[in-house]
This record gives sequence, structure tokens and C-alpha cells, in this order.
Amino acid sequence: MMDSGAPVITIDGPSGAGKGTVAQMAAARLGWHLLDSGSLYRLTALAAMRQGIAFDDEAGLARVALNLNVSFKPTNADEPARVLLKGEDVTAELRTEGCGNNASRIAALQPVRDALLQRQRDFQQLPGLVADGRDMGTVVFPNAGAKVFLTASAEVRAERRYRQLKDAGVSVNIGDVLEEIRARDDRDMNRSAAPLKPAEDAQVIDSSGLSIEEVLDRVMVAAGQA
Ligand code: DC
Repeated sequence: MMDSGAPVITIDGPSGAGKGTVAQMAAARLGWHLLDSGSLYRLTALAAMRQGIAFDDEAGLARVALNLNVSFKPTNADEPARVLLKGEDVTAELRTEGCGNNASRIAALQPVRDALLQRQRDFQQLPGLVADGRDMGTVVFPNAGAKVFLTASAEVRAERRYRQLKDAGVSVNIGDVLEEIRARDDRDMNRSAAPLKPAEDAQVIDSSGLSIEEVLDRVMVAAGQA
């Protein structure tokens, strides 16, 4: 595989473990690029819905993934970059539970994963890249210099998600959130295409009892960047 030689830190793990926040903070601290690979699966799901492509039309979905017209617009604050689909800001829509679940469904299809592979590898640019997702260390960047698998119990992840939704004014039942997290874990871990699992050379960090700063410190140590 040809790459730019830029160093890569991969952060994989189940939804709600805090990967996105930690990856963003690590990239900001190092001044490196950031790849939020989940957003590409979410965008593919959203674009497919808009184009009326059925979720069992593998070739159609792969075409959508290959032709995604996406750009990331950095924000000046500590906020995640805005995501633009054909120039339209779809950041809020991408974050919904519905979009996450649809992303998880289409992410189980190998042709969709293949279609997104090179686009993800293109993010490996100097001075370095922090990449978060499910298969960053196992499939997309197998030669990454540092690999982290960030996990937390399903209960802790459900509690965090519940609080986020409540703060955003969405009324939900914590039991339902926990059930959805379990269903998503199950689908992401048990699919045959690039299932969610730690790379053999990944360092596993359990974020259950840790603050986000404590997790970030551990990731930096694991990456040899402390
Ligand atoms: O990280 P996220 O919640 O935004 O990801 C949404 C879905 O996309 C997730 O349930 C599984 C899928 N995904 C994947 O299969 N591989 C990745 N590298 C990233 C996300």
C-alpha cells in the first residue's frame, strides 16, 4: 500500500465510548488531521435515502458511497467540523439516531466498505492523522503506529447518550437507549465485513470510570505522544 508516510493514530470502538470527542481533542492537541469515518457511513446512508436507493441495493449503495460529494468545513472553536453534502450543511441530520442506525445497516455491506476505503486512506497526510471508527486499526490503516480500542460498558454508554439527548431537548427512555446501543453493538460486532474488534496490536482502554481528559491522557501515552 502506498501511503504518504504520515503517522497515524487509530481509535476504534463501539458507539458511545467517547471516540469522536477524544479523537478530535487528540488531533487538535497534535495539530494533526482528523478522520471521522463514521460520518462517511452516515453520509452514504443519508445520500442514499435522498436518492431513493433501497438499503438492499448493494451496487446502488456502493455507487452512492463512491460518488459522495462531501467536504468538511473546520470550525474555529473546539467543535467538530461541519459536514457538507453537495455544499449543504447536513451536520445536524447526520447526528440523529435514525441516521446512525441506517449507517450501521449499510456499513455491513462489503461493497459499501470497499467504495469508501480509498477515500479514507487519502486522509493520511502530513503532519499526521487521528482516525476514529470501527475498523481503522484492522482494515483501513493496518500499519498505523499507534492503535487504541476505546470501550465502555453498554450501561455507561447508554447513560452518556441519554444525557446528551436530554440536554438536546429530546425526550427518551433510558431503557430504549440501552436497547438500541446493544442492537447496534451486536450488528457492528457480528457482521462478516470488517466486524468491530480490537486490532491484535491495539491497546484497549476502558473509559467507563474515566473523564474525557483522563481518556485523552491515556490515548496520548498509548500513542507515545504524552
Ligand atoms: O461512529 P458512528 O456512530 O458515527 O458510526 C455510525 C455507523 O457506521 C456505526 O454504527 C458503524 C458504521 N461504521 C463502520 O462500520 N466503520 C467505521 N469505520 C465507522 C463507522
